[in-house]
Amino acid sequence: MTVRELVEKSRSYRGFRKDRKVTKEELLALAECARLCPSTGNIQPLKYYLAWETEEVAEIQSLSRWAKGLPEMRLPHPGMEPAAFIVICQDTRIDPASGKFQRDVGIAAQTILLAAAERGLGGCMIGSFPSGDLKNRLRLPDWAVPMLLVAIGEPAETVILTQVGEDGGTGYYRDEEDRHYVPKRRLEEVTLDKFSL
Ligand SMILES: Cc1cc2nc3c(=O)[nH]c(=O)nc-3n(C[C@H](O)[C@H](O)[C@H](O)COP(=O)(O)O)c2cc1C
Repeated sequence: MTVRELVEKSRSYRGFRKDRKVTKEELLALAECARLCPSTGNIQPLKYYLAWETEEVAEIQSLSRWAKGLPEMRLPHPGMEPAAFIVICQDTRIDPASGKFQRDVGIAAQTILLAAAERGLGGCMIGSFPSGDLKNRLRLPDWAVPMLLVAIGEPAETVILTQVGEDGGTGYYRDEEDRHYVPKRRLEEVTLDKFSL
C-alpha cells in the first residue's frame, strides 16, 4: 500500500467485529511506531496505556463519547464496540506543561491508526472523555494524564470519503444502510500559494 492508500484507508471507524480480538502484542506493535514519532524538543513525555482485556476495554468504552455529529444514533451500535484501546497519556514527571504536547499527541495517534490500517485494523481517536474519571478507573498514577483515546479493532463498517459540497458543510452523515460519509475539502481549497491569496 502506498502512503496515500494507507491514509485513505485509515478512517475514523465506529463499528467493529466482535469476534476479532486485539492482542497485547498487536498493541505493542502500534506503540512501537508511536515511540519513533517526532516530539516537541524530543522530550517524549507520552506514555501509551494498552487495554485489551474485555472488562477494562468496556470500562474505557463506557467513558468515551462517540459521534457527537450524529446525536440521534448510538455509536458504536451495541455489540460493535472496539476490541482494544490505547490511552495516550502525558507523563507529567517528564514535563508538566499542559497544552504543550497536544501536537505530539496528534502525531502519535495518527501514526497508531496508520500502523493499525497496515494490519487490517482500524479505529477512532476519542478526545471526548472525562480524563480525571478515566485516570481513577484505570488507577493510573498521578503523573499519567490521559490526553486522547485511540480505539482499535477490525472495522465492520463502510466509510466513504466525499467532497464538501456547495453549501460548505463538513458534517459527516449516514445513509439507510449505515454507510458513513465524510466530506473532505478539495485540494484547491486547502492549499495556499501567493497566486491564490
Ligand atoms: C483529536 C481528535 C479527537 C476526536 N475525538 C472524537 C471523539 O471524541 N468522538 C468521536 O466519535 N470522534 C472523534 N474524532 C474523530 C473525528 O470525528 C473524525 O476524524 C472526523 O469525523 C473525520 O473522519 P475521518 O477521521 O474518517 O476523516 C476525533 C478526531 C480527532 C482528530
